[in-house]
Parts: sequence; structure tokens; C-alpha cells
Amino acid sequence: MLMQRASTGLFWFLSIVIAALAFVVVTLATAIGFDQAAPHLVHYLDSEKLPLYAHIVFAPLALLLAPFQFWAGLRNGHRRIHRAIGYAYAVSIAIAAIGSLLMLPRFQGSTWATTGFALLAVIWVATTARAFLLARARRIAAHRAWMMRSAALTFAAVVLRLMMLPLMATGMPMLKTYDITAWASWLLPLLVVEWLLRRPGRMVQQPV
Ligand code: HEM
Repeated sequence: MLMQRASTGLFWFLSIVIAALAFVVVTLATAIGFDQAAPHLVHYLDSEKLPLYAHIVFAPLALLLAPFQFWAGLRNGHRRIHRAIGYAYAVSIAIAAIGSLLMLPRFQGSTWATTGFALLAVIWVATTARAFLLARARRIAAHRAWMMRSAALTFAAVVLRLMMLPLMATGMPMLKTYDITAWASWLLPLLVVEWLLRRPGRMVQQPV
């Protein structure tokens, strides 16, 4: 119980902090210029400015909204709000994922890293769409399981940044870190969720 509370608290804390930091980067880059605030993104500005903005505005929004969908009080006591946030979360992911796919041809990392990000974007949309359709079909246990998968993929943004710091501290260049993080950032949280869903006596009573 204590462990569950601590991990829920950490999920909230890290989602909000990383989403807020991302919004700070977008605001600063817009105000003082990408060359000053986010030089690693300047090469997207020529022809991929719209996809870049779509991604860096809507992906953090999805990350910010994700924890609210798991808040039992909101889910049970305020269905309409839960539904409205759910729509906003799903639409944000659709926009952010399309943005990232359009950015990828200009991404400067390796083919291996590009493949990891492309797969993540596709699975991100697929799991979220599945969760959305299950909610509409009122298959609540299955909806919950697929929302956990979707949130694990949204949380990849947090894991990526947590992994990036120690990797860069060893002297690894930023682009090189993507060879590890473009895959590990989403495979790790997805594995944790699959384990949570399969624990004996765990929540999944309906086929997922
Ligand atoms: C889950 C699917 C996602 C994919 C495939 C993806 C992919 C990418 C790619 C390829 C870049 C460009 C990196 C570069 O050129 O250096 C990027 C940048 C960025 N992404 Fe995502 N991303 C995803 C999710 C998220 C989420 C959930 C957030 C929420 C915080 C996010 C926030 C950002 C931000 C703020 C940047 C700008 C770079 C920075 O300053 O950190 N992304 N993303």
C-alpha cells in the first residue's frame, strides 16, 4: 500500500515537472529564439516548424493530463470531467504523434533511434485509440488496462529525460544517447505496466 502510494505520487510529480519544463522550453524558445533556448531543434524550423510546435505543445499537454485519468475520485465522482480530459488526452496524442512522425525525416539521430521513435509514435496512437474505443464500448476493465499502456508510453518522455542526464554525464553526446533512450524509454515503462496487469489477483478481470 505504501509502495503504491509512493509510486502514484512519483507518477504525478514527474509527469507534472517534465510537462512544465517542456512548456518552459517552448515558451523560452518562442520568446528569445530556438538558437538560444533549444539549439538542438533549430534544424526543424525551416520546413517542419508546424510539426515541431504540434509536438512540443501537445505532447507535454498529454503528459500533464495523463495522471488525472487515473484519479479514482475524479473518475467516479465527476464522470463528465473524466470524459472531457480523456478526449483532450487522446486528441493531444494524435496531434503530438503525427507531429513527431513528420519531424523524424529531419531527426539527426541514427536510423536505429529513428526506428525506435517511429515505432513509439505508432504504438502510442494505437494503444490510446484502443483505450478510447473500449471506453465508448463501456468495457471498463479493458479500457483501464489499455489506458495504463497508453500512459506508460506517454511517460516515455519522463524516462527518456531521466536516462539522458546520467548518459550525458558520462560524456556521451546527446544524439548518441537516443540510440539507447529511443527504445528503453518506452520499453521499460511498458514492461512495468504489463507486469502490473499480470500480477496474481490484479485488476484485469475482462480480456484485454
Ligand atoms: C511518445 C511519443 C514521442 C515521440 C515518438 C517523440 C519524439 C520526439 C523527437 C524525435 C524529438 C526531437 C528530438 C531531437 O531532434 O533532438 C522530440 C522532441 C521533444 N519532445 Fe517528444 N516524443 C514523444 C513524446 C513526448 C512527450 C510525451 C513529451 C512530453 C513532455 C515530449 C516532449 C518533447 C519536447 C519538449 C521536445 C523538444 C526537445 C527538448 O527540448 O526536450 N515528447 N520528441
